Amino acid sequence: MPSNPEATAPRPGWPALDAARVHWRYQPAPDCLAGKVILVTGAGDGIGRVAAQTFALYGADVLLLGRTRGKLETVSDWITANTQTSPVIVPCDLELLDDTSAEALLEAVAEAYGRLDGILHNASLLGPKAPLAHYPTSAWNQVMRVNAFAPFLLTRTLLPALQMSPRASVVLTSSSVGRKARAYWGAYAVSKFALEGLMQIFADEYEHTGRIRFNSLNPGATRTAMRAAAYPGENPAGVDTPETRMDIHLYLFSDDSAHENGQAFDAREWTGARTRARD
Ligand SMILES: NC(=O)c1ccc[n+]([C@@H]2O[C@H](COP(=O)([O-])OP(=O)(O)OC[C@H]3O[C@@H](n4cnc5c(N)ncnc54)[C@H](OP(=O)(O)O)[C@@H]3O)[C@@H](O)[C@H]2O)c1
Repeated sequence: MPSNPEATAPRPGWPALDAARVHWRYQPAPDCLAGKVILVTGAGDGIGRVAAQTFALYGADVLLLGRTRGKLETVSDWITANTQTSPVIVPCDLELLDDTSAEALLEAVAEAYGRLDGILHNASLLGPKAPLAHYPTSAWNQVMRVNAFAPFLLTRTLLPALQMSPRASVVLTSSSVGRKARAYWGAYAVSKFALEGLMQIFADEYEHTGRIRFNSLNPGATRTAMRAAAYPGENPAGVDTPETRMDIHLYLFSDDSAHENGQAFDAREWTGARTRARD
């Protein structure tokens, strides 16, 4: 039996919260994100897409940032059709993000909402899986720019909007190889180590305010395009879906986690991995 029948009730067109597939350790109130404004990067696909949909189902107005406009429009249409919230599309290639474009986003957010209640830094590039001895310079720079520099620049620039929220939450999506590196994971692993450091510094610097919390989250092996690229020989059916990672995402953006700061979370400790895919 689901622990929260309301949260796991089937929704039209989305079998995501199928009680048979999701073990809910956290019991989110159906309106736990009501009135919140949350920016999700990489919202067009994979974990970011499902997170944006889930946040909207629980009441948040989501800003959908991604580089492929068509994917963002599909997510936006779904949210508009299935929730009472108002999504906004933010087409943006994070590789090209600079002070000017980040400040333009801050101005738009401040004008439209007057504050920002959360950022899910989720967009990421895998890059080549190659030994460091042969790792290409251009790929290194690209992966580091998208995975580590853009989250820093976005967060730093959006701080004034986050500070206008009574309880803002910033979540940096990490990885197992960002906590214990492994051969051939190259810039991807290093970028995730950088994110963990970024999270710890922001968390320490804003601890005293009690208004903005910073945590990292390792989703663990999850059935997405990135996972398929990282493990091309793997049967996707043996990997947990993004939907099984949503209780921890909801927890980290709801006020229930207001006391969490500077923590490194692992989604599988929350949901219990359904499959045995290596991570
Ligand atoms: N899947 C896993 O097993 C796993 C395990 C551990 C950690 N993670 C982490 O979880 C997060 C989500 O991964 P995922 O598996 O959902 O990946 P995914 O399916 O590849 O989706 C990544 C998303 O990021 C977007 N993106 C990539 N580069 C971008 C850029 N330059 N500018 C803007 N958006 C960009 C992509 O946009 P397009 O759709 O337009 O390409 C896509 O929507 C990542 O941080 C990843 O490192 C995943």
